[in-house]
This record gives sequence, C-alpha cells and structure tokens, in this order.
Amino acid sequence: MTTSHARAVRAERLDVRDLTVVHHGPDGPVRAVDGVSLSVAPGTALCLLGESGSGKSTLARTLIGLPGRAAEVRGSVRLSCTELGGLGERALAGIRGRRVGYVPQDPDAALDPLRRVGAQLTEVLLRHRVTDGRRAARAAVPGLLDAAGVADPVRVARSHPHELSGGLRQRAAVALALACGPGLLIADEPTTALDALVRARVLDLFAHLVEERGIALLLVTHDMGVARRIGHRAAVMRAGRIVESGPVDVLLRAPEHPYAAALVAAALPGGGRG
Ligand SMILES: Nc1ncnc2c1ncn2[C@@H]1O[C@H](COP(=O)(O)OP(=O)(O)O)[C@@H](O)[C@H]1O
Ligand SMILES: [Mg+2]
Repeated sequence: MTTSHARAVRAERLDVRDLTVVHHGPDGPVRAVDGVSLSVAPGTALCLLGESGSGKSTLARTLIGLPGRAAEVRGSVRLSCTELGGLGERALAGIRGRRVGYVPQDPDAALDPLRRVGAQLTEVLLRHRVTDGRRAARAAVPGLLDAAGVADPVRVARSHPHELSGGLRQRAAVALALACGPGLLIADEPTTALDALVRARVLDLFAHLVEERGIALLLVTHDMGVARRIGHRAAVMRAGRIVESGPVDVLLRAPEHPYAAALVAAALPGGGRG
C-alpha cells in the first residue's frame, strides 16, 4: 500500500433517520426509499444487500445530496454533527469528495469523459485544498491510482476514460472517491466490473481504510462473499425498506426475515438456485 492515504482522516459517523425518497417520474410517484434508518460508526462497514430495484442506489445517492432531479426527500441524514438535509448545493459540494467519498454504481457517472483521469484527480485535490499546489497534486496521482489497484498508474493517469476498460474506469472512480481522504465512503457495487484478483485488491484497500484509518464504509453489494469479507454489519433492503439488519455473520448464518433468508440462500454457494 502506498503512503497516499496516510493523510489524516477525520472520523465521520453516518446517522440516517426515517429517510423517505419519492421519485416523481413519467410513471407517477415511486417510493424508492421508505422510512429507512441506519447508522455507520467510524471504523466500521455496513453492507447494504437487496435485489435490483429495492432502492439501494437511490439511498446511496440521497446520502450525498443527489437523490435525482424530481425526487422528494423527507427525513434526516446526519454526517457527524452536520445535518445534510438543510444544506445548500455549495455547502454540499464542499462535503462531497472531501468528507464523503462516493463511488457510483456506474463509474462513468463519476468520470468526466472529456478529461484525462490524472487531470480529474489533480482537480479534486486542488478543489478541496488537500495538497499544497498543483505540482504536489500531480505528484500524488500515481499513488492514488496504485492504491486503487491500477497496475500502470502513469498510463491510466494520461488516458481519457473511454480509452480504459470498464474495470480500469471502476478503479479510477474508486481512486477519485478516496483522493481527499474522506471519513465516510459510500460505494455502490464498486467491484462488479473487476476480475477476482483486482476485486480482492480493492476490497483489501477498503478493509485497510476501515480497520487502520477508521473510515466509515457503506457498501452496496449483492455479493454475500464481499459482505462477509468486508462488513461488520449488514442490512437487507426490500421495496425501499430495511427488512433486517445486524452483524454480518449473524445475518448470513441465521437470517430471521423470510425475504432476507431467501436472498441469502439464493446467493450462497450450495443454497437456492442462484
Ligand atoms: N431517477 C429516477 N426516476 C424515477 N424512478 C427511479 C429513479 N431512480 C430510481 N427509480 C426507481 O426507484 C426504485 C429503486 O431504484 P434503485 O434505487 O436504482 O434500486 P437498486 O439500486 O436497489 O437497484 C426502482 O423502482 C427504480 O425504477
Ligand atoms: Mg443500484
């Protein structure tokens, strides 16, 4: 691991209370998140499980203040002592990337197609004044990419996103989310496009950040193996609600809610059909 993440991390705690998000789309209102409460303490990881359409991505985006254009949000999202609900776009932009890192489900949503990956990393470091000047920011870029599992960081830094494979774009998005040393990382299925070795490397990085640097991690995944490896706690979402939550080992070994049990049985080797 490089020293790039050795900069001081300010511990953050996430507290979500009774959060409801209604999308107003062409098909009428969709209650994507329906009264969700959860907490993630510093130095712990919460894995959010649940089938497609259960509201995981809407929840993740709402936590960073990007619920969607026509979304109606109710409830409370607190980052340590800051209530995010009351903040304007400018204040949120100062928190996003600096105090909270976010890896979207689609890495292309994180990357500017028109700019080289290295320039995007340099820009986020400068915007949040993490490094002292442009030269120092540029110098930090290869280490950030290396830490995110990129084998040839110099080439990747010089590339535009479209010149990279999906797996490399995903790692670039991870590097961008972690560049400023956030105290909370929200990652939405961040390893889906990665082969097993690189996935292990990225998960090791996350585990390192949680265990050694004390960040709080909210990881959306449908992979029970990932949850078991990274998570301290897990929550199962269905139709916008959390139907069960608890320590990962308990939830995966002895889920109580029938839906959680079915999800776990279907996902674990030898269980269910999938
Ligand atoms: N921008 C949007 N406008 C309208 N409906 C949306 C929007 N985003 C998500 N939805 C709907 O909200 C529900 C939850 O979606 P999503 O949060 O993407 O779930 P997941 O990440 O668990 O697959 C789905 O019914 C989806 O169609
Ligand atoms: Mg999703």
